[in-house]
Amino acid sequence: MTETDRFLRACRREAVDVMPIWMMRQAGRYMPEYRALREKYTLLELCKTPELALKVTMQPLRLGVDAAILFADILLPLEPMGAPFEFAKGEGPVVHDPIRDRAGIERLRVIDPEDGLGYVLESIKLIRKELNGKVPLIGFAGAPFTLASYLIEGGKSAHFVKTKKLMYGEPEAWHLLMEKLAEVVRKYLRAQIVAGAQVVQLFDSWVGQLGPDDYQQYIFPHVSKILKDIETTGVPVIHFGTGTTTLLPLQKKAGGTVIGVDWRLPMDDARAMLGDDVALQGNLDPTILFAPVPVIEARAADILQRMRGVGYVFNLGHGILPETPVESVQRLVDFVHEFRHPG
Ligand code: CP3
Repeated sequence: MTETDRFLRACRREAVDVMPIWMMRQAGRYMPEYRALREKYTLLELCKTPELALKVTMQPLRLGVDAAILFADILLPLEPMGAPFEFAKGEGPVVHDPIRDRAGIERLRVIDPEDGLGYVLESIKLIRKELNGKVPLIGFAGAPFTLASYLIEGGKSAHFVKTKKLMYGEPEAWHLLMEKLAEVVRKYLRAQIVAGAQVVQLFDSWVGQLGPDDYQQYIFPHVSKILKDIETTGVPVIHFGTGTTTLLPLQKKAGGTVIGVDWRLPMDDARAMLGDDVALQGNLDPTILFAPVPVIEARAADILQRMRGVGYVFNLGHGILPETPVESVQRLVDFVHEFRHPG
């Protein structure tokens, strides 16, 4: 077995030589070479210039991870849809003119990815060429709830009050917004696959704000429409969220070849809950990487011991944090690759 197919095999629940590992946000500020590029370019410049997106995508591969993830951001489709934003220093994303009523939702454009996101597709082609089969390339998009939360709140949020106010108060407008976002995301993921993405991940990072009944009513129809369509391409789809312990069975039903699990639920409990007919990804708490190396190793070993058998991809429960020591990330990657189940 080559290094190339370890990750793809795990996604398809086939046997692997050692556990594959990649990390969400594996390209980013914890790496000195990323910070050096960010001194010269803004985040949006890195995303919108395929040669630079290529460079950043390749940076974490020196750690020996089993997959590359396209360097881009989940918010990029918002601009061509008619909701421009910027990444403000220290504040995260800021949508200039948040959308809070039906009229604003009606004005949003259901774009073709080739119009307005062509640079992402170009990056994917460049990256595939450069990777030349070394490791598979993951494409991605944000899920409708998570994208809607930025559109409506205008940035990050603690309680998602404006988002939920629209959802509960104007359900028809909400469903129109979800339909529009789902259609953009569905076409965008398909275009990424055509351009060369070998796996795609749907980031529903903030959907854990909802309980199962609300998920079923306001989210499920839209997410399942995206995932069921992408599944027909044969390309593995990772369905990811955080705070989703009570949502996992519904998320599995909505679709995905691989289900992401955050650190709030032990992986073997997730396996018991979801069964053997789906692959799982997760779930080291990203803050464990700030602990001493023996603690990191013990926690990684604990997860690996819970996940014997096929259909498992090692990852963090959420993205790597900016101040994480690179040496600890390197140790984690090596530890996972060196790990052997006793007996
Ligand atoms: O390596 C990778 O994982 C690929 C690149 C990637 C980025 N964003 C680049 C980025 C990916 C997969 C994302 C996804 C993303 N973006 C999500 C979902 C994943 C998650 O973490 O839940 C979300 C919610 C966003 C929106 C976003 N982008 C926020 C809230 C922020 C600011 C917060 C922060 O970390 O500063 C960003 C900025 C962003 N996107 C950075 C990177 C590397 C920060 C680095 C910088 O400013 O240079």
